[in-house]
Amino acid sequence: MRIPFIAGNWKMFKTVQETVVFVKELGGFVKDVADVEIVVAPPFTSVHSAAVAARNTNIGVAAQDLYWEREGAFTGEVSASMIKEAGAEYVIVGHSERRRLFGDTDRAVNRKAIAAIGAGLTPIVCVGETLEERERDQTLAVLDRQVKDGLDGLTGDQVGEIVVAYEPVWAIGTGRHATAAQAGEAHAHIRKRLGQWFGAGAADRCHVIYGGSVKPENISELIAEPDVDGALVGGASLEVGSFADIVTKSRPAAV
Ligand code: 13P
Repeated sequence: MRIPFIAGNWKMFKTVQETVVFVKELGGFVKDVADVEIVVAPPFTSVHSAAVAARNTNIGVAAQDLYWEREGAFTGEVSASMIKEAGAEYVIVGHSERRRLFGDTDRAVNRKAIAAIGAGLTPIVCVGETLEERERDQTLAVLDRQVKDGLDGLTGDQVGEIVVAYEPVWAIGTGRHATAAQAGEAHAHIRKRLGQWFGAGAADRCHVIYGGSVKPENISELIAEPDVDGALVGGASLEVGSFADIVTKSRPAAV
């Protein structure tokens, strides 16, 4: 069975010092939670100190992006192996902010996902439609393209190990989360496609998590959807109490 997966995407927030304080405090809050996978994704500058602070806890660390080359003259970029060596186990790829503000294409997302897996990191591959695409009834077609192209070339075994994050762009940072029915429909569709393209085992094991204005107030209804395996939390992950609350409410016994 897929255990719930809750990750906090801090985006461009928190210094090294703030990261260490947060991880230590979170560790205290969630120390008895063995039935939820808990991850924080600080900025690159804090990945190593987050990993050190998270040692001997049940908290994992993710980076927020990577570049697919192993090393070279790529000023400003960070490779998968560097992230891994810094202590992360996961990396977010294809976040809509990367796609929209920094030009990440589906092809780039695919190269990043492959590089992550090659370095032993678990990619959290983000997909999701814009408001315009939803209003034009293109949601499922957009998800098909992003999932197919983003995961191109992966084996069923690999897909079974990764995380796909459905993050409708219109729900990110807006306070307007997808309804449980909207999330449920998108997640069921993604899982169906994973089954068609990568096999039933891959679809069954792959975590498909939801992101977009997740808060302690709405996590319960979202995670109650059978195909919603967790959440990628932005704003509400910056405050340790609300993030811990979301983790607690995601525990199987709480749902
Ligand atoms: P918010 O939770 O702030 O809407 O952000 C969601 C997100 O982008 C997580 O990656």
